[in-house]
Amino acid sequence: VLCIFNQTDWLIILLCSVEKYLQPFQLSPETLQEVSARLRKDLLRGLGKHSHHKAPVKMLPTFVRATPDGTEKGDFLALDLGGTNFRVLHVRVEEEAQKVLKMDSQICAIPQEMMLGTGEQLFDHIATCLGDFLESHNLKCQTLPLGFTFSFPCEQLEIDKSILIRWTKGFNCSGVEGKDVVQLLKEAIQRTGDYHIGSVAMVNDTVGTMMSCGYKDQSCEIGMIIGTGTNACYMEEIKNVKRIEGEDGRMCINTEWGGFGDDGSLDDILTEFDVEVDKTSINPGVHIFEKMISGMYLGEIVRLVLVKMTKDKLLFKGQISEALGTSGRFETKFISEIEDGLENAKKILTELGLDWGLVDASVVCLVCDTISSRSAYLCAAALATLVNRIRNNRKLDHLKTTVGVDGTVYRKHPTFSSKLQKAVRLLAPQCDITFLVSEDGSGKGAAMVTAVAQRLAHQSRLLEESDGEDDDDEEEEEGQ
Ligand code: GLC
Repeated sequence: VLCIFNQTDWLIILLCSVEKYLQPFQLSPETLQEVSARLRKDLLRGLGKHSHHKAPVKMLPTFVRATPDGTEKGDFLALDLGGTNFRVLHVRVEEEAQKVLKMDSQICAIPQEMMLGTGEQLFDHIATCLGDFLESHNLKCQTLPLGFTFSFPCEQLEIDKSILIRWTKGFNCSGVEGKDVVQLLKEAIQRTGDYHIGSVAMVNDTVGTMMSCGYKDQSCEIGMIIGTGTNACYMEEIKNVKRIEGEDGRMCINTEWGGFGDDGSLDDILTEFDVEVDKTSINPGVHIFEKMISGMYLGEIVRLVLVKMTKDKLLFKGQISEALGTSGRFETKFISEIEDGLENAKKILTELGLDWGLVDASVVCLVCDTISSRSAYLCAAALATLVNRIRNNRKLDHLKTTVGVDGTVYRKHPTFSSKLQKAVRLLAPQCDITFLVSEDGSGKGAAMVTAVAQRLAHQSRLLEESDGEDDDDEEEEEGQ
């Protein structure tokens, strides 16, 4: 072949072969519109009174009925479980300065075995970490309210009663699914601790993100995470949430859009690599959309594509190194680094023990770009569905809104956010969206939710008191 073709021709032939592997990842604007239309239907199924039980997109009520109004204040504790790390935080909400301050925080590692062990071990560990934190920050004598960011799908019955539907991402602890997480936490504190906590508010990380951004920008009505997992929440009209009582006002709905496709609705766009990632995950068949998008899986998709290309002798002289052959060894952060520059690609390929040439490194960049772009475009399609829904709900020709965003993929990847934003503009042309990267939504947001819940409780107490006074007046009048 080399005798007949010159080097440029050879490169073109190679790129055409590479294209064959990448083409299934390239989604046209029409396909993205179709994805958005399918999600639109699934949102309705999730909101429906009878259809929600079987809906792949769960649309979970959060009991968060209001975004911050800027008058919230106080000191709070926050726990954050379900992202890259488990953290304990002490947060202060200052009304005067309209600021949410992180006073102190501490990361507690959760060992891999614990993520797959018993629920009791996990919650004992959480309670011990919280106790150590209170001890070392001299907070043990106070009884502070606690916001618990628990980033898994939960059926929330009240702000402090939240039943885990199922584990997602890397967790699979026994004896927790179907149980009230707040109860498990309180029991663990009783077992292991010599401290007390105040009222508890359970928060999904999307909700925390929306709420922490909402303190700065009160038109923030969507929270989106693209990190280890992916998900979004938004303010829905209560009258559309058929599974709960009430007609007036709005409630934040945790969509759990990661579950989109769990009923097979995305099968036509799944590649053989997505199917493989799902099959070898700890929860096959669950969170199909998330597995095409989020940080927990993107690296593995890239690795599987590279392995196949190498086996087909398109890369690395046909030699798969031990690292490339090992599942999980191609980390998602490598994608961001590789797309940041060819020099990074060379360094990473060397570290992975691969015998690479310049063409190999360029092809790897192309693979990373294709897979991260698909992730950004799929998120854009999903976000477009939400903003279009909000616009229709409010019967507006034009919607101006803010999305609070967090997550390592969105934050760290060099071009992810700009691709996503451009694609949303295309898919939701009548919506003008401001993207606000949340500063520690999971920590500060949990405090914010707790603060808003306290404000609302305080307001309704005042209302009841004044109603009571009115009643007294009436009685007096009657008596006269
Ligand atoms: C997973 C969880 C979801 C969370 C998301 C982002 O999809 O099920 O609750 O919001 O990850 O962390």
